[in-house]
Amino acid sequence: MEQRTESPKEVLLEVKNLKKYFYSKSGFIKSNVQAIKAVDDVSFTIYKGETFGLVGESGCGKSTTGRTIIRLYDVTDGDVIFDGANLSQMTQSQIRPYRKRIQMIFQDPYASLNARMTVGDIIGESLDIHHLAKGKERQEIIWNLLERVGLSKEHANRYPHEFSGGQRQRIGIARSLAVNPDFIICDEPISALDVSIQAQVVNMLQDLQKEMGLTYLFIAHDLSMVKHISDRIGVMYLGKLVEVASSDELYDNPKHPYTQALLSAIPIPDPDVAKNSHRIVLEGDVPSPMNPPSGCRFRTRCRYAMDICSKVEPVLVEIEPGHFSACHLNKNSEGVSFQETVQND
Ligand SMILES: Nc1ncnc2c1ncn2[C@@H]1O[C@H](COP(=O)(O)OP(=O)(O)O)[C@@H](O)[C@H]1O
Ligand code: SF4
Ligand SMILES: [Mg+2]
Repeated sequence: MEQRTESPKEVLLEVKNLKKYFYSKSGFIKSNVQAIKAVDDVSFTIYKGETFGLVGESGCGKSTTGRTIIRLYDVTDGDVIFDGANLSQMTQSQIRPYRKRIQMIFQDPYASLNARMTVGDIIGESLDIHHLAKGKERQEIIWNLLERVGLSKEHANRYPHEFSGGQRQRIGIARSLAVNPDFIICDEPISALDVSIQAQVVNMLQDLQKEMGLTYLFIAHDLSMVKHISDRIGVMYLGKLVEVASSDELYDNPKHPYTQALLSAIPIPDPDVAKNSHRIVLEGDVPSPMNPPSGCRFRTRCRYAMDICSKVEPVLVEIEPGHFSACHLNKNSEGVSFQETVQND
């Protein structure tokens, strides 16, 4: 009898110890250059065909992570390995073929669509840049894409301002699909849309993923937006990844106090469940990435913060198979802190 085994997961993207610092000069003195540590030693893996959600409050470095992967920003340190090739040190001409394979869609489709171009030309532009199709073939591809994202070919001659927010996001998605990419970085693609439209766009992205074998990095500031679409989720805080797990595991069994606080902030529609749930209020603002707290960056807002938290920075450790967390509280079955076991190595 044929034995069915699960096919091993193939890695598409590996981000290793990625750092992206921006430097800002304060005053006229040159030596006063300060580093904004937007992304500060972040590592994660994305497998082919999956959706990896990246979540965290505004300013924690999600967009910078996405933009550095696709090399819209130079890498300060670390590696970005896409399908076996290290993008982090490539020149702009070496990176060009990967600009076709990796696409990005943005939160504000209106700002990212050229208002003076027709929708057809917006979608066709990347076909032109990469010399992929001309004339009738180009037109067919554009019409096809419009239909694929729930619009129609008549829309090709119209301009972005003639569309609603949801429709504009569909145009942005069609544009990203034109070059037949493998990987799409979706940077808060639904955050600016009405709640009623959000689900439609997410469902469409999921259908397209299945049809076209796409892999997504799906960025959101709110955990409620990524649960439905993500296979696995990474939670970011002030330039660091603090927890990574499968979507179900992260919701059912969050290990990091920051994730627990984010989850408790999601409104629960069922009043009986809501009555028994405990809302953790995150106090204070996110500290500045120019001068992050010592030790655990979350300690200034963590209700469990202990002495060690200001002294020793917790690293991301696999505390259960596939579940990673960076907190001094996480202990193994013998009651030993995972941080002690790794930091003493
Ligand atoms: N181009 C830039 N120059 C200087 N600082 C930046 C730049 N882009 C982002 N930052 C800073 O980096 C941090 C992370 O920003 P960002 O990646 O946009 O966060 P998120 O997408 O999670 O809201 C913020 O403190 C932001 O102000
Ligand atoms: S390491 Fe300490 S401060 Fe950081 S999340 Fe864990 S308990 Fe809180
Ligand atoms: Mg952002």
